[in-house]
Amino acid sequence: MYVPEKIEKILFTEERLKEKVSLLGDDLTTEYSGKNPLFICILKGAVVFFSDLIREVKCPLEIGFFRAASYVGTNSSGKVDVDESTLPDIKGRDVVLVEDIVDTARTLSALKEIFLRHEPKSLKIACLLDKPSRREVNGFKADYRCFEIEDLFVVGYGLDYEQQFRNLPYIGVYKP
Ligand code: IMP
Ligand code: MG
Repeated sequence: MYVPEKIEKILFTEERLKEKVSLLGDDLTTEYSGKNPLFICILKGAVVFFSDLIREVKCPLEIGFFRAASYVGTNSSGKVDVDESTLPDIKGRDVVLVEDIVDTARTLSALKEIFLRHEPKSLKIACLLDKPSRREVNGFKADYRCFEIEDLFVVGYGLDYEQQFRNLPYIGVYKP
């Protein structure tokens, strides 16, 4: 197995990720059958999770993409960078935002506000990882999440450190 030197330990193996993503897919299938939802991948970090998740949802759906950036190194920059002109057409749709991780929750709370302004019929958030101990937006919760983790900087399965490690098939702890 390919484990770069900067990976201190493996937190979630490929198998464990597959298992959890499949369970989340079952929940989403139950909730969205007959609704033709629009699943939106928040680029870039959610791309691997997103591509696995949509294949576990067993009902008609559509997909879209939206780019949001906030991190510099291992620290949230506190500023969320988006181009609203690239927002998919979500008016009247049942939208599921798919994100890699909720950390301070600044990114997702900003995104939620932007999306709600464009009048979806409903808006829910599905994330792979959640670090509640880092929260700065009080009370922010994703509607669906796969794993809660401690205050660790993790990479792999789409998550990066300075654009590296997104290709690892597992989630690993990054060694600074
Ligand atoms: P927030 O706005 O602080 O919640 O940060 C959310 C974004 O920061 C996520 O979409 C990730 O791109 C990034 N991020 C937060 N924690 C980690 C981590 O442990 N590893 C890699 N990226 C992270
Ligand atoms: Mg991200």
